[in-house]
Amino acid sequence: ETIYLEDYQPPAWLISHTELRFELEEEQTLVRAQLSVQANPLVSDKRRPLELFGDVDMELCRLSIDGEILEACDYQRKGDRLLIENVPESFTLECVTRLLPHENTALEGLYKSDGMFCTQCEAEGFRRITFFPDRPDVMSIFRTTLVADKALYPVLLSNGNPIESGEDGEGRHWVTWDDPWPKPSYLFALVAGDLAMLEDRYTTTSGREVALRIYAEPKDLDKLDYAMQSLKNAMRWDEDVYGREYDLDIYMIVAVDFFNMGAMENKGLNIFNTSCVLAHPKTTTDQGFQRVEGVVAHEYFHNWSGNRVTCRDWFQLSLKEGFTVFRDAEFSADMNSRTVKRIEDVSLLRTAQFAEDAGPMAHPVRPESYMEISNFYTLTVYEKGAEVVRMLHTLLGADLFRKGSDLYFERHDGQAVTTDDFVAAMEAVSGRDLGQFKRWYSQAGTPRLEVSDSYNPETCEYTLTVRQSCPPSPGQDHKQPYLIPLNIGLLAEDGQELYSGMLELTKEIQQFRFDNIASRPVPSLLRGFSAPVKLEYDYSDEQLLMLLSNDPDGFNRWDAGQRLCIRLLQQQMQRYRDGVPMTCPETLVTAWRQLLLDESLDPAMVTQCLRLPSEAQLAELAGVIDVAAIHDAREFMRKALAEALEQEWLMAYQRCDTGEAYSPDAESTGRRSLKNLALAYLMATGREPWLELTRQQYEQSDNMTDQLAALSLVAHSEFRETAEELLQEFYQQWQHESLVMNQWLAVQASDPTEGALERVKELAQHPIFDARNPNKLRSLIGSFCAQNLSSFHAEDGSGYIWLADWILKLDKQNPQVAARLLTPLTRWKRYTAERGSLMRAQLQRIIDTNELSADVYEVVSKSLI
Ligand code: ARG
Ligand code: ZN
Repeated sequence: ETIYLEDYQPPAWLISHTELRFELEEEQTLVRAQLSVQANPLVSDKRRPLELFGDVDMELCRLSIDGEILEACDYQRKGDRLLIENVPESFTLECVTRLLPHENTALEGLYKSDGMFCTQCEAEGFRRITFFPDRPDVMSIFRTTLVADKALYPVLLSNGNPIESGEDGEGRHWVTWDDPWPKPSYLFALVAGDLAMLEDRYTTTSGREVALRIYAEPKDLDKLDYAMQSLKNAMRWDEDVYGREYDLDIYMIVAVDFFNMGAMENKGLNIFNTSCVLAHPKTTTDQGFQRVEGVVAHEYFHNWSGNRVTCRDWFQLSLKEGFTVFRDAEFSADMNSRTVKRIEDVSLLRTAQFAEDAGPMAHPVRPESYMEISNFYTLTVYEKGAEVVRMLHTLLGADLFRKGSDLYFERHDGQAVTTDDFVAAMEAVSGRDLGQFKRWYSQAGTPRLEVSDSYNPETCEYTLTVRQSCPPSPGQDHKQPYLIPLNIGLLAEDGQELYSGMLELTKEIQQFRFDNIASRPVPSLLRGFSAPVKLEYDYSDEQLLMLLSNDPDGFNRWDAGQRLCIRLLQQQMQRYRDGVPMTCPETLVTAWRQLLLDESLDPAMVTQCLRLPSEAQLAELAGVIDVAAIHDAREFMRKALAEALEQEWLMAYQRCDTGEAYSPDAESTGRRSLKNLALAYLMATGREPWLELTRQQYEQSDNMTDQLAALSLVAHSEFRETAEELLQEFYQQWQHESLVMNQWLAVQASDPTEGALERVKELAQHPIFDARNPNKLRSLIGSFCAQNLSSFHAEDGSGYIWLADWILKLDKQNPQVAARLLTPLTRWKRYTAERGSLMRAQLQRIIDTNELSADVYEVVSKSLI
C-alpha cells in the first residue's frame, strides 16, 4: 500500500491525555492505555470513525469506551488499522495489549537490549505498544507508570519527571512519570534496567536547574564523560546561537547496544546506540569522538527543532531532520575546524547522497509518497535537507535567518507543521518570495551547473555564463529551474582576490558581468559548496594548482585539489581500459610535496588535501562503473604518490608524532590524522621498514585512533602473516569491548586483498558476531558491501549472492536493517553489463520470495523498474 502526501487529512479525533501502565515481566508485558479522546473541533465531518493504529501481530486483550467493553463486532481490524464507528464527542478509551518484548527482533516498539527494556517509536513504533492514533499531528500529554522486578530493573525511566513511586510486594516496584509537554506518540520512550549513571547539572540562562543523567551498563560508566561535556556544550550553544533553552528539570540519555539507527530524541529521555554515546581514548577513535559530540548535540537540538515544533506528517520529516542536521553541523563547526567539518559533510553528500539521487529510490527532500516510511530516513532527507536549510541561511544571511528561526518557533510552538511553514517564516522576516526556492523540497535529483566564461581585454569585462539543469528522477521527467545561491570569487593570476560575492541563479541560463577586471581571472566557483549541485567548469591543470595554493576560501582550495585528482584518476582509468601503462604526473607530486613540507599549514587540512577521492566517489562520478578500473587506477596512484614522496611522508609522520598525551580536541585530532595518513602512504610502498614502524605504533600507542589505524594498515597489506598475528592480538586484547569488536569486524570486512568473501563468511560464524545486533551487521555486511568494492563486486557475482542470502534471512528478523543493507544491490543499472545483470538476478530472487516485509519489498520493487 502506498501513502500519498496529497491524501493528507487532519485527524478527526484528538487525544488530550494518555495514561499508560506497563507491567514488565520476563515472559510478557501487559500495557494498559487510557486515552482521553475528543472530536477535533476543526474537523467538520463528525461522523468519521475513530481510527487507531496497531501492529497486525499485537494481541488486543481488552478494549472499552467509558468503561463499557467492546466486543469484536463493535470495531473493525483491517491490517494495522482499528476503526470504531459511532463514538461520542468525548470519551475515555481503555485498551489492554500483551507484548512479547524478548521476541521483538525488529527493534521497533518495546524490545530488550542486553537484558534491559527499551523502546523505539519513531516513526511508527508506538503502534507496536498499544492502539493509538499513531501519527505526529496527534499530540497528547503522557503519564506513564512502569512496574517491574526491583532487583532486575532497579532503574525505571520514561519521559518528563518522576512524580510517584512505590513497592508492589513480591520484589516488584513502580515509578510514575509525568511529561507536561504535549507530544506525538513517536516521542514516547521507556527504559527499565540495571543501569549505571553519570550525573551533572546545567543552569539555563533564565535560571532553570537541569539535572543531566547519562545511563549505561555499569561496565561502560567510564565512557560517558565526553557525551556529558558535549551535551553541556550543545545546551550552551543552542542558547547562544538560537536563543533556545531546555524546558524540563531532567535530561536523560540511555545507551543501548541494540539499536537500528544512531539515536532518538524522545522527549527528556534520549535513547542512543552505544556507538554514538560511549567514548574513551582507549576504545574510541577520533572519528568516534566526533560522532558522539555531533549526535549528542543533534538529539539535544531536536528538543526545539522536532519536539516543541514537530512534523504534521512523515512527508515533512526533513522539517525536523534537515534543520537539525544543519544545526548540529554548525555546532560541530564551531567546536572544531569549520572548513574540515564542511569538507567531511560535502564528501559524504557527494558520494552517498548524489548516488541516492541517481538511483531507483531517488526522492525529493519532501517525498510525495512512500510504502514504508522507515525507508525514507535517508541521506536526501537528512543531509540534502540540511543543505537546503543552509541555502536559506546563505540567501538571507545569518541575522535574518535567526529572525526567521525565532519567528518559526514562536508561531508554531506546540504545533505539528510543514516545510512550507518553515519557509513561510523565512519569507515573513526577509520580505522575499521564496516560492521558487521551494522546488528544492519538491524536486528530486542533483542539479547540474555548467559554467563558461569570456574575457574582453579591451573593455576589461569578464562574463560568467551559468546554465542549470536537473536530470529526470522517478516520477519526475522535467524539472523547473531552482533558486541557487552561487558563492564565487575571482582571482588574479597572482592569487589576489578581485571579487567575491553571491550570485543568485533563477533561470535556466544566466549571465553575470564583472567590470574593471584588469586581466583574465581564475573563477573560484561554488565556494563553501553553497548549493548541493554538480558544478562543471573547464579548468586547466594550472588553474586548479593555482587555486589549490591561493584560494582564500579553504573549502575551494581543497576542492581544487580534488578536482585535479579526480581528473588524473579518470585518465588512469582510461589508460587501464586501453591497456596503456598508467602514469603519475610530476605536477601533482610537486604540489603535494609543497603541501607536505609547509609546516605552517593546518595538518587536518593537509590531510584532507592529500587524501585521494574514495572508490565510492569515483564510482558515483563514473558514467558506467568499472569497479576494477577504479580500484586499480586508485591503487596505482596511491603507490606512485607513496614512492615519489617517501621521504616527505616520513618527515610528516615524525613531525606529527609528538608523543603528547591523547586529547580529542581538533588540533591533536588533526595531527593524528596527518600522521596516520603519512603512515598509510609509507605502507603503500610495501617496504619492510614501514611495516616495522606501523607495528611499533600499534604496540606503543595509548589510544584507539593510532592503534586501529596501524591495525588496519597491516591488515590490508600483503604482509599476511603479520596481519593474522595483529588481528589475533587485537581480538585477545579487546574481545570484551563490543564497540571495539565492531571495528575489528569492519577492518577485516573492508580488506580488499584476495579471499575477502571467505573471510567475511568465516567471521559470520565467529562467537563475537551476533546477527541480531544491527551494529554487528553493519560492521560485517555493510563494510564488505559498501567499503570493499572490488571484493563485493567479484566477477563471479559471489558477493551479490552472499548479500541476497543475508537480506532474505534478515528480512524476517529486522526489516529496517535488511532494507538498508540492501542498498548496494539496488544500484545495478550503474555497473558494466555483466555485473549489472548478476546484481539484478539477486534482486529478482529476493522479490520472488513470498511474504517480504514492506521495507524490503518497496526497495526491491522500485529498483527493478
Ligand atoms: N529521529 C532520529 C534522529 O535522527 C532517528 C529516528 C530513528 N528512526 C528509526 N526508524 N529507527 O535523530
Ligand atoms: Zn534527527
